[in-house]
Amino acid sequence: MNRRVPIYEGKAKQLFEGPEPGTLIQHFKDDATAFNNVKKGVINGKGVINNRISEYLMLRLGEIGIPTHFIRTLNMREQLVKAVEIIPLEVIVRNVAAGSFASRFGVDEGAQLPYPIIEFCLKSDKLNDPIVAPEIIVAFQWAQPSELEDITSMALRINDFLSGLLLGAGIRLIDFKIEFGRHYEGNTVQVILADEISPDCCRLWDTKTGEKMDKDRFRRDLGKVEEAYREVARRLGVLPSDKEVAAKSPAASKKPVKLSAVKKKKTRK
Ligand SMILES: Nc1ncnc2c1ncn2[C@@H]1O[C@H](COP(=O)(O)OP(=O)(O)O)[C@@H](O)[C@H]1O
Ligand SMILES: [Mg+2]
Repeated sequence: MNRRVPIYEGKAKQLFEGPEPGTLIQHFKDDATAFNNVKKGVINGKGVINNRISEYLMLRLGEIGIPTHFIRTLNMREQLVKAVEIIPLEVIVRNVAAGSFASRFGVDEGAQLPYPIIEFCLKSDKLNDPIVAPEIIVAFQWAQPSELEDITSMALRINDFLSGLLLGAGIRLIDFKIEFGRHYEGNTVQVILADEISPDCCRLWDTKTGEKMDKDRFRRDLGKVEEAYREVARRLGVLPSDKEVAAKSPAASKKPVKLSAVKKKKTRK
């Protein structure tokens, strides 16, 4: 039985055919890229940590009624997800000016925005993920107006919820990028949250020190990249053991992990 039919290899993850129709296996790699693939590297253990963080955040979001693609964790680097038709947009939510937003408008990095700002970028490495206005998205039929409405309201809800959840862990949510997809079931189609939520696609600053705890450490050569990812996982209470983080190859991580057992152990402490 071949459980590993590759579907897509991206920059940070790989997709394989899932065990049941309509499912996919999302495999988290240690590979890191920045500036649209110009900078490449490896962050040891990142895949294991992002798998855990994304699982945790998607589950919590599911509990407040945000539909997500997450089904269950399969092993340290892989999760089973609902296959969706990805809407080719990177949905960026910003609470504080940083990165390209700060430089584009000549604003200091760290300037608090008066309200969350949503930006849409076309998901196209070839075109360098250009920013697109809703009017253009609809004109080119990348998404319907009603889908954009759903995406916008979910993105704002996700932002409010994650901002609070992370604040409780001493982390300030500066901005983040999410992706949505169309999930077809019978005659219905629903826009659901897909891809991942992890320090790869969020800006996370320590609330006390302002220290960066996300991929900017890699982008800007700030060092202690692995440590920052681990610290986010630790504060969220989902830090895997050293042995688990060291699980490198898909072969090494083939054995399914009973997550309930892992969790129980943690709470018993
Ligand atoms: N549930 C899903 N169904 C189908 N595709 C998905 C799903 N979740 C994420 N994807 C896609 O899988 C890919 C994940 O790999 P990643 O390394 O992030 O790729 P990329 O380099 O394109 O960003 C992304 O292209 C993302 O849009
Ligand atoms: Mg991606």
